[in-house]
Amino acid sequence: MRTVTVGLLGCGSVGQNMLNLLERRRAIFADLGVQLVVCGVLVRDLAAQRDVPTGTPLTTDPSFLNECGMVVEVMGGIDKPLSLLSGILRSDRPVITANKALLAERWDVLREHALGGRLYYESAVMAGTPIIGPMSTVLRASRFIRLQAVLNGTCAYILSQMEEGKPYQQALSEAQALGYAEDPPTLDVGGFDTAHKLAVLARFCADGDFKFADVKVSGIEDVTLDDIAAARAAGEKIKLVATLERDGGGWKAEVAPTRLSNDHPICTSGAGRNAMVYEGEECGPLIFAGGGAGGMVTASAVVGDMMDCVLGFPGHVPLH
Ligand code: NDP
Ligand code: HSE
Repeated sequence: MRTVTVGLLGCGSVGQNMLNLLERRRAIFADLGVQLVVCGVLVRDLAAQRDVPTGTPLTTDPSFLNECGMVVEVMGGIDKPLSLLSGILRSDRPVITANKALLAERWDVLREHALGGRLYYESAVMAGTPIIGPMSTVLRASRFIRLQAVLNGTCAYILSQMEEGKPYQQALSEAQALGYAEDPPTLDVGGFDTAHKLAVLARFCADGDFKFADVKVSGIEDVTLDDIAAARAAGEKIKLVATLERDGGGWKAEVAPTRLSNDHPICTSGAGRNAMVYEGEECGPLIFAGGGAGGMVTASAVVGDMMDCVLGFPGHVPLH
């Protein structure tokens, strides 16, 4: 049996669920000939109540990173995780991350690691609904035309609750309590989290160096119950939609609240869910839909990435 030491950065909604899921999947790792040993779990507050397996090595001291064979980053933010990961990147050790803000905004630092197949990030877009896997593998054989998607669970939840007549602020508080929202939630409702995810996706189908700054962004803060009622009267729903499509010789990438007909595949995929319509010349239109936020649905993709990593499969390699 091979021992792989794992360091975890962050133990919030995703981190706690990931540790519990790892316990439940120990037999699968053993079947793969691997014993995972969590050698440190970095947090800020050691006194906080957490639902984690007995003996979890919580700490505020990141020195355990020196001895890790693999690092899982689920802490969020940009500068702090990047500084903690710098030694790991330098020593070519695998990194698994759910952090789309980091991926989108510091691609200059991460791209080489990704091209080397040492960066795994299925959970960063649509959480446990697989999209990065297909886009980084089979879908490349088909010429990309266009994608249209709901990529933010918080906004999907808020808009679906507003359709039931709930005020915006109450729906946002509920999304935060469910563990869906970013810290701060302006990343969600301002459209920036969706734009981060769109930039990450664009690197698989449009341009391997696609820049976050090239996404035009507007959020849902100004959507009112009256706007939703007007859309309903016209047989439509308002969704925060990310679009990526060819535009002359380049690409148009945009995030904006958009009215879609009730029978659009994004609307029929279920209230509050993430959904994507992906169009390629040869593969035709494809629909991906499922849970796009929440601790356990995200942890399922993180643990899936860990399995790929111990099996020796490469991480998610962008276009060269
Ligand atoms: P949480 O806020 O619930 O958890 C963050 C964790 O990181 C906490 O345990 C916190 O410690 C720790 N942390 C934050 N900053 C520091 C620091 N400076 N030093 C040490 N520890 C720190 O976030 P989530 O679990 O919801 O999300 C984590 C990541 O996963 C984010 O990048 C998010 O975008 C991404 N993600 C989240 C999804 C979701 O549905 N929640 C879905 C997909 C991706 P402490 O507990 O002590 O405060
Ligand atoms: N805050 C994000 C969302 C988490 O609501 O979609 C999942 O990436």
